[in-house]
Amino acid sequence: MKTKIIKINPQKPNPKIIKMASDLIKRGELVAFPTETVYGLGADAFNPQAIKEIYRVKNRPLDNPSIVHIYDLSQLKKIVKEIPENAKKLIKEFWPGPLTIILKKQKRIPDEVTCGLNSVAVRMPSNKVALELIKNSSPLVAPSANLSGKPSGSNAKAVFQDFNTKIPLILDSGKVQIGLESTVVSFVNKIPILLRPGAISKQQIEKIIGKIKIHPSIQNTEISENKNLKAISPGMKHKHYSPNARVILAYANKTQIKQLKKQLKKQKNKVGIILNKNIEEYARNLFSKMREFDYKKYDIIICQAVDENGLGLALMNRLKRASSQVVRF
Ligand code: TXA
Ligand code: MG
Repeated sequence: MKTKIIKINPQKPNPKIIKMASDLIKRGELVAFPTETVYGLGADAFNPQAIKEIYRVKNRPLDNPSIVHIYDLSQLKKIVKEIPENAKKLIKEFWPGPLTIILKKQKRIPDEVTCGLNSVAVRMPSNKVALELIKNSSPLVAPSANLSGKPSGSNAKAVFQDFNTKIPLILDSGKVQIGLESTVVSFVNKIPILLRPGAISKQQIEKIIGKIKIHPSIQNTEISENKNLKAISPGMKHKHYSPNARVILAYANKTQIKQLKKQLKKQKNKVGIILNKNIEEYARNLFSKMREFDYKKYDIIICQAVDENGLGLALMNRLKRASSQVVRF
């Protein structure tokens, strides 16, 4: 099968293209589509066979559950059992947008979505292509559109790289806005807990619902693996965001990083650097730059560390998990 890439306007999605994509979804096929965070690889959330196919083409571990993307709140009521007050407040404030919440699931949600857990992750994206596609087909299961372990797909080319010939269609609305995956908050236990930091920060959330917990793996990891931590969010224990090049996380200024690059080049390495000029841009471009450096067969990528607050917490979480070495000056 040859994978088609079709351009679609995110402000005003062409209904004919949406129909074509939703027909594929209804037939149990996979469609990659843009969201404001990263591209998603979508399938009908009520079609176990189609969901299995997502896991197969992504090579995704079968214990890593996926997010259900919805169009409106009537869909939410069919997916989750009850919605705690605090979850309602966050929904009111941040949906549609880059926030995923985890709640107890209803029986009709297939085990293939949740990997057998009794909870389900749900989010309402703000990208209009995503919303129209869901509206015209069904709630969509959609992990990030990348091979498991690789940097997430933040443009159609990246998605094509990973899935050419494996899926029928990629909807291309250009580069994503945010570039990092959504914030994930679980309401399964009494006290809400942040499982994955994203563009909606812990501070923004606490302003609405008061103090929340933060999963230890987010702050305490120096480097990639969280082997000893209990995986509340199963995705956390898997290798993630890794380009082929070795990633060095550098707590250093621009001059020091350039110096380091010089040294490494002397040892015959092809070295790329990613500096923090503007944190939003850094986040937005991180995954596509990693992929670009891989394409150019770089050996090493040096990423500049940033302060871990606001979007910085989300960015550093990805950088720590992608890197295999840390340098400090
Ligand atoms: O921004 C995003 O969230 C993107 C776009 C496409 O919407 N999607 C995305 O999906 O990042 P994925 O599958 O790459 O990440 C989903 C995360 C994983 O870390 C997974 O372990 C966690 O959500 N998750 C899903 N269901 C869960 C559940 N029931 N309990 C705990 N964690 C869950
Ligand atoms: Mg992912």
